[in-house]
Amino acid sequence: MNGIKLVPRFTSLNHLLLLSVLSSLCRSLAGESPTPQELRVGFKAAPDLSVSSFQPILSDSTGNYSFGFLRADGNQLTLSVIHAPSTVPVWSADTTPLARWGGPTELFFNGSLVLSDSRAGVLWSTNTLGDRVWLSSTSNLQIQKLDGAVVLWQSFDFPTDTLVENQNFTGSMSLVSSNGLYSMRLGADYFGLYAKFMGSNSGPAQMYLKHGALEAKADIVDGHPIYLVVKPDGYLGMFQNGSTTPVDVESFNSFQQNTSGNLRVRIEPDGNLKGYYWTGSNWVLDYQAISDPCELPSSCGSYGLCTPGKECSCLDNRTADESGKCASPENQISGDFCGAYNNRYKVLRTSGVELPFKELMMYQKMNSLNHCESACEQNCTCWGALYSNYSGFCYMLAFPIQTLLAVGDDTKMGYFKVKEGVGKKAVGAWLGLGLGLLFGAIVIIAGVLGLAWYRMRKRGVKGYLEDDSGVGIGPYKDLGAASFRSIELCEK
Ligand SMILES: *[C@@H]1O[C@H](CO)[C@@H](O)[C@H](O)[C@H]1NC(C)=O
Ligand SMILES: *[C@@H]1O[C@H](CO)[C@@H](O)[C@H](O)[C@H]1NC(C)=O
Ligand SMILES: *[C@@H]1O[C@H](CO)[C@@H](O)[C@H](O)[C@H]1NC(C)=O
Ligand SMILES: *[C@@H]1O[C@H](CO)[C@@H](O)[C@H](O)[C@H]1NC(C)=O
Ligand SMILES: *[C@@H]1O[C@H](CO)[C@@H](O)[C@H](O)[C@H]1NC(C)=O
Ligand SMILES: *[C@@H]1O[C@H](CO)[C@@H](O)[C@H](O)[C@H]1NC(C)=O
Ligand SMILES: *[C@@H]1O[C@H](CO)[C@@H](O)[C@H](O)[C@H]1NC(C)=O
Ligand SMILES: *[C@@H]1O[C@H](CO)[C@@H](O)[C@H](O)[C@H]1NC(C)=O
Repeated sequence: MNGIKLVPRFTSLNHLLLLSVLSSLCRSLAGESPTPQELRVGFKAAPDLSVSSFQPILSDSTGNYSFGFLRADGNQLTLSVIHAPSTVPVWSADTTPLARWGGPTELFFNGSLVLSDSRAGVLWSTNTLGDRVWLSSTSNLQIQKLDGAVVLWQSFDFPTDTLVENQNFTGSMSLVSSNGLYSMRLGADYFGLYAKFMGSNSGPAQMYLKHGALEAKADIVDGHPIYLVVKPDGYLGMFQNGSTTPVDVESFNSFQQNTSGNLRVRIEPDGNLKGYYWTGSNWVLDYQAISDPCELPSSCGSYGLCTPGKECSCLDNRTADESGKCASPENQISGDFCGAYNNRYKVLRTSGVELPFKELMMYQKMNSLNHCESACEQNCTCWGALYSNYSGFCYMLAFPIQTLLAVGDDTKMGYFKVKEGVGKKAVGAWLGLGLGLLFGAIVIIAGVLGLAWYRMRKRGVKGYLEDDSGVGIGPYKDLGAASFRSIELCEK
């Protein structure tokens, strides 16, 4: 009996699952089809629906790094190079739109490495005419010509959010955090970290960290571009073209220790720049550009207040809501107060607050807090202003208010606009009232017409048989009550 019952339950889907589990088991047991170490023209691959995290396509000679399809957010696919033992991605192709983990997505090599989708077309391509794809033992994905191993394209020239050891970071590159909000770029003699407080797609970026060269070992020569390299002996070095002596050294905890092949630096989704050291079993923090959490660009979120020791609270003294936010959604996204519907705001004033990166902000000198506040009030792109009574510096913020520092000094004052979000609600309410009145009027008219028709009909048919009075009152009352109910309903 049981056997018979089991048969119909054993669907083809179960068959497929079992087969794929068995075949992958067999493959791993037999050590069959190891990941290749180079791809030649004609290569093709498509995402395997049964893979839930990473599908290797190409491996380096040590097996430390692997290039393949990385599955993200359930159904999205990125082409990535990962550090195999930890599965941490060190590079990803910048594919727009994002590829889907499914049928129409395909990767092929025809001289160019191309990711395409039969519906959207080519999503990403190296636009090369190479002979092979190869992954170096330092995680550099390259397209090479076989004659003289000329490199036509390399992933090191297009970093994502990570730099690995000996990867050159030059002035034409940027590192961008995975959420798109923070980036690192080089200036003439410094590296800078920048935030897009107006959202990843809009607005100019605000610098929140500027690290200039200390020039302890070598001086900067004007006109020679600088570049950054993570050095195996534990530091982030700033160099100038043509010199092997660093103009600046940001040392890690592992400085001058033997850490070969084990360092990486990444710009994190919180805006910090961190260095990590691979111990052989896990990554440990080895460096961070911003060590005080309150100095991060938005450590406590929009309209947050950071007290040393990283106690987060809200500028308006409320504790954050359940979602940990101090501001309503319209205060967390880009925008200004210039439009007809978005110029409503209330004002929040606090004292004892300061910007975490005020030395990188523009300011104007003003005689009083009033001047500073009214300059912001009269400027619809201004979200708030900070004033120091001692120095007279007025800082105007052209982006939604981020986290401020709590300082013991009450002569440092803040003026902040808080969007009320009533614009849309008020319009909605008036529209609702209007519609309600209109509907109510229609119901009343329909009721009156109906009553008139009822009376006429009654007179016509029964008028001669029965007396009007008494019988007519019932329906009239009922109709009246009904139409009043309708009106009440509409106004709710
Ligand atoms: C490779 O494929 C891409 C996308 O289909 C195409 O644009 C390109 O011309 C092809 N390259 C060669 C050498 O055939
Ligand atoms: C990095 O720059 C140095 C010096 O300019 C150069 O010798 C080296 O080949 C570069 N490395 C890569 C991977 O491009
Ligand atoms: C670096 O210097 C070499 C020769 O000294 C030069 O060919 C190259 O263009 C320079 N690179 C940059 C980015 O200035
Ligand atoms: C660094 O490694 C080399 C060989 O890998 C070894 O000879 C040397 O003693 C090591 N130095 C330190 C400080 O661990
Ligand atoms: C890379 O692989 C080699 C050999 O498998 C191993 O000895 C080495 O520790 C690995 N390096 C890293 C950074 O994982
Ligand atoms: C916040 O609370 C403190 C004491 O609890 C009070 O001194 C301060 O004025 C309050 N600030 C605001 C903006 O309400
Ligand atoms: C308004 O403020 C922004 C920055 O907040 C500034 O760039 C702009 O010049 C100001 N406009 C006026 C008219 O002051
Ligand atoms: C700001 O400075 C003025 C004069 O310098 C002083 O009269 C005023 O009390 C100060 N305000 C605060 C809040 O410290």
